[in-house]
Amino acid sequence: MKKVITYGTFDLLHQGHINLLQKAKELGDYLIVGVTNDSFDKDRGKLNVRNNVLERVEAVKATGLADKIIIEDYVGQKIEDVLKYNVDIFAIGSDWEGQFDYLNEFCQVIYLPRTEGISSTQLRAETQYNVNIGIIGCGRVASRFPFEAKVVSGISITAAYDQDYAVCCDFEKKNIGVKAYENLNDFYSHVDAVYIATPHLSHYDCIKKSLLAGKHVLCETPMVLNELQANELYNIAEERNLVLVEANKTAHCPAFNHLIVMIKSGLIGEVVDIEASLSQLLDKSGREFDVNQAGGAMFEQGSYPLLPILKLLGPEFKSLNFYSKMEKNVDMHTKGVILYPNAVCSFKVGLGVKTEGSLVISGTKGYAYVPAPWWKTDYFELRYENQNDTKKFFYKWDGFGLRYEIQEFIGSIYNKRPTSTKLNRKESICMARIMQAFYEKKNFIEI
Ligand code: CTP
Repeated sequence: MKKVITYGTFDLLHQGHINLLQKAKELGDYLIVGVTNDSFDKDRGKLNVRNNVLERVEAVKATGLADKIIIEDYVGQKIEDVLKYNVDIFAIGSDWEGQFDYLNEFCQVIYLPRTEGISSTQLRAETQYNVNIGIIGCGRVASRFPFEAKVVSGISITAAYDQDYAVCCDFEKKNIGVKAYENLNDFYSHVDAVYIATPHLSHYDCIKKSLLAGKHVLCETPMVLNELQANELYNIAEERNLVLVEANKTAHCPAFNHLIVMIKSGLIGEVVDIEASLSQLLDKSGREFDVNQAGGAMFEQGSYPLLPILKLLGPEFKSLNFYSKMEKNVDMHTKGVILYPNAVCSFKVGLGVKTEGSLVISGTKGYAYVPAPWWKTDYFELRYENQNDTKKFFYKWDGFGLRYEIQEFIGSIYNKRPTSTKLNRKESICMARIMQAFYEKKNFIEI
């Protein structure tokens, strides 16, 4: 049997892709199609791909031309695939002429004529409308947003609003193209979507107002500190066909996503224990230490270590206990223990206590180790009893890392998804439930 392999992103699958797959199939008896993983595309600087990997795999499957579909995860994988699947022919479009000649050592390389006049890039450009984003809350957190948004296509930051108009004007001065508005309704009439970077306790009002004004919302994490509020906000968004995304940067970064996918695929067996930690020693005069502004380590940092736990073990835990060191009514350090039917997890957050900021996910076959700062994951290892089996994974963490959540937000707007596929409604609402439990000091012990 003659085996043929080809690769591509196959975004917004078009006739050029179908022609290529047909020609590749005709070269042999069995066609393997490699579809790029989202994180691999992001790593190669392809941040504007519209369909996620599942949608692209489905589209290739629907052509009926592929006998096997595989995922392309990393540079250098092609040689391994050719050897692994005993491939006879590597076929790719003529736009890649010469670039895969190195594979001639392992199989025959054929460059197929590309269909003229069509490409994913062209289709993206033709169907692209520009989303005008306004920023609500122009403080430290928001200051990074315009820089990060520049690398994502299809959006412009056009407006800013802050309860302190002087702060907003200052933001306008620092960011070309952004106009400061003193009146919120005026601000809303100039934007399609908003990014909310105000202090935690104002999120609920800001999100609700923005959704009722018909705007898509990307809100800083923790989105809200109350489960009912979170539910209500997602319902409002869905009723109005608006996108609501919790802006948790770790949830959207390529390396973290790949780690989660691999663990879910069973690479370390059944997950039995997760330990995640995050701490930051800050100047105690800041808002982060003010009880009236929901200061403290848990509200400030908790949504990061909760993320791997909720992504891997889900929202249905049996119990959750908090142990905190308090100062002026805010937690300087909190340790949480979450019990599941078949697993136990612990997390640590600190504003006045320094911890080792690593993530360890233990399973029945091995464990994942992500060194500090794991929440900005660009490297991790899968380790096993036999040290020779250790696998190391390297990625890029670009800029401040906000570009990935911005891309997901815009992708959700374009593809009419109600929320992020990387931090979904259930997970986000569960975070709010946990924050509420802490707020209400349920199963809470002061140390
Ligand atoms: N291809 C083709 N004819 C086209 C477009 C793509 O034969 N008009 C081929 C490519 O050469 C490649 C495969 O289809 O072998 C998948 O290409 P991909 O990069 O996914 O498609 P493009 O439309 O080129 O995407 P982009 O514009 O994002 O580069």
